Amino acid sequence: MCGIVGYVGPRQAAPLLLEGLRRLEYRGYDSAGLAVVAEDGTLHTVRRAGKLDRLEAAVEESPLSGTCGIGHTRWATHGPPTLENAHPHRSTDGTISLVHNGIIENAGVLRRKLESEGVVFTSDTDTEAVVHLVDRLWPEGGTLEEAVAAALRQVIGAYGIAVVSSRDPDKVVVARNGSPLLLGVGNGGEVLVGSDAAAVIAHTRNVVYLDDGDYAVLTPEGYRTYGLQQGPVRRKVHEVTWDLAAIEKGGYDHFMLKEIFEQPRTLEDVTRGRLLEEEGSARLGGITVSDGELLDIDRIVITACGTSWHSALIGEYMLEELARIPTKVEYASEFRYKNPVVDSKTLVIAVSQSGETADTLAALREAKQRGAKVMGIVNVVGSTIARETDFGVYLHAGPEIGVASTKAFTSQVAALALFTLYLARRRNLSVLEGRRIVKALQALPAQVEEILEQDEAIRELAEQYVDAPNFLYLGRGFQFPVALEGALKLKEVSYIHAEGYPAAEMKHGPIALIDEKMPVVFLAPKDPVYSKVVANIEEVKARAGQVIAVVNDGAAELEGKVDHFIRVPETHTALLPILTVIPLQLLAYHVAVLRGSDVDQPRNLAKSVTVE
Ligand code: AGP
Repeated sequence: MCGIVGYVGPRQAAPLLLEGLRRLEYRGYDSAGLAVVAEDGTLHTVRRAGKLDRLEAAVEESPLSGTCGIGHTRWATHGPPTLENAHPHRSTDGTISLVHNGIIENAGVLRRKLESEGVVFTSDTDTEAVVHLVDRLWPEGGTLEEAVAAALRQVIGAYGIAVVSSRDPDKVVVARNGSPLLLGVGNGGEVLVGSDAAAVIAHTRNVVYLDDGDYAVLTPEGYRTYGLQQGPVRRKVHEVTWDLAAIEKGGYDHFMLKEIFEQPRTLEDVTRGRLLEEEGSARLGGITVSDGELLDIDRIVITACGTSWHSALIGEYMLEELARIPTKVEYASEFRYKNPVVDSKTLVIAVSQSGETADTLAALREAKQRGAKVMGIVNVVGSTIARETDFGVYLHAGPEIGVASTKAFTSQVAALALFTLYLARRRNLSVLEGRRIVKALQALPAQVEEILEQDEAIRELAEQYVDAPNFLYLGRGFQFPVALEGALKLKEVSYIHAEGYPAAEMKHGPIALIDEKMPVVFLAPKDPVYSKVVANIEEVKARAGQVIAVVNDGAAELEGKVDHFIRVPETHTALLPILTVIPLQLLAYHVAVLRGSDVDQPRNLAKSVTVE
């Protein structure tokens, strides 16, 4: 996904736009650009391939003056991250500049039509077709918003866009369909635009989330919102509850490390006010369906992507084990195109940190289409998935800036545990078992603190494996999804190939990979399958594999069989993933730092994939 910013108001736009792009850089960082309408009404556009630093240097060298402008930081979808493909894209005469986040599905058709009319394209992007369309459809004596609305009526696909023009200066027009966009309503008549609240929070907490099909006109007099189909619409002003410090590093070298160390607090936040000790249950204000409707559910599908898919897998084990309800996890990208067996007795749970992942959003829309009840487990308040689900549970983990998800994962697992408790105690779970789980959830923050104290030991361990070309992560039961998550963390920040596997499955092929050069991370806490994992460890050692084992205290059976122990406290089997994943997050982080990776902005990645 990309980051979009905009500004209209009394202040100079360029510094504010650059600051906003800095706060959105985690959304994509292949190239960046600005367009500012100068006081004399002329339009100035500056773009640079590569990181935002290069654009900042260019603007420092030749400052842009003007109080109205837009900016963009890109994650390439169509066309490589070159200067020509950087946004803003301009009309042929340079009087209109446009930035876009999303994918224009009919860009090819539009491009061929425009080229047949003599338009010369200068980029490989889908976006460029839109700015030429705005140019061609600008009515005689009309306004920028009329031209933009006319163009969007011919566009098929997902977009968040912002447009400025010297033909209608002191105005920014923005529109949204499938890619997030919000307005920041500032003081003194200024209005800001951002792909998410991080872009505007330094200036205002008052935000207006645009809905799909909305467009808005921003001028020094304020803003007006419209529906592409229905004309003027009113959109509520929401207050953002977190502050600037939440999106700054706070003394840590990287956001990823900060967010790993935030987990004791975020685990407190996700359970705060939600644990019922006496009843051994959970209070979830966001579950607005009645108990009757909930008990009418006869199966659950959890759909997600990436790390959220891993937490969903843990949710599957929880719901089947504790709530005794058939549960299946589906990749959102698969679910949306298969012919899923879903009906009014199915609960579909969409798990998403950003609440904007295109595949997950499409999957929940498909489920709704088929009559299922749809629930969200989301971190970003007011995000599209949060607003399109029937009910849900917010993580309250605060903004997660590091591209590699850490605190969101553990909060998702905790939220799934809360929902499992809520449902299971209405079905078949005893109060005593419920109280055990409540107590275990209450103990987690202190237990995570204890594990984080091993950070230096894990950094030293990372030094021993920094040059390993491959890693295997193995776990069983609740620990199998942790093996997958540990492997993903290492892959996405250190670029080392790593694979997560069910420990028993290792014998059916991957064991061929085991030799003295292969580090194998075993998740081996004291759970019902511990003895089986011990046997798997012995199989690996018999083939000279190097074993790193995450264990609880004790583990006497493993003495002399394991090259490195990482010890975590004991807890309820269903909650052990929250503890065993912490060392894997730290291991991935330190290996990546030692390898010189860009930990917070790994190559090729973006924080939330808002395109297919
Ligand atoms: C996590 O480390 C990855 N960056 C990625 O897999 C992410 O979990 C996935 O894109 C889903 O994002 P979401 O939770 O915002 O929907």
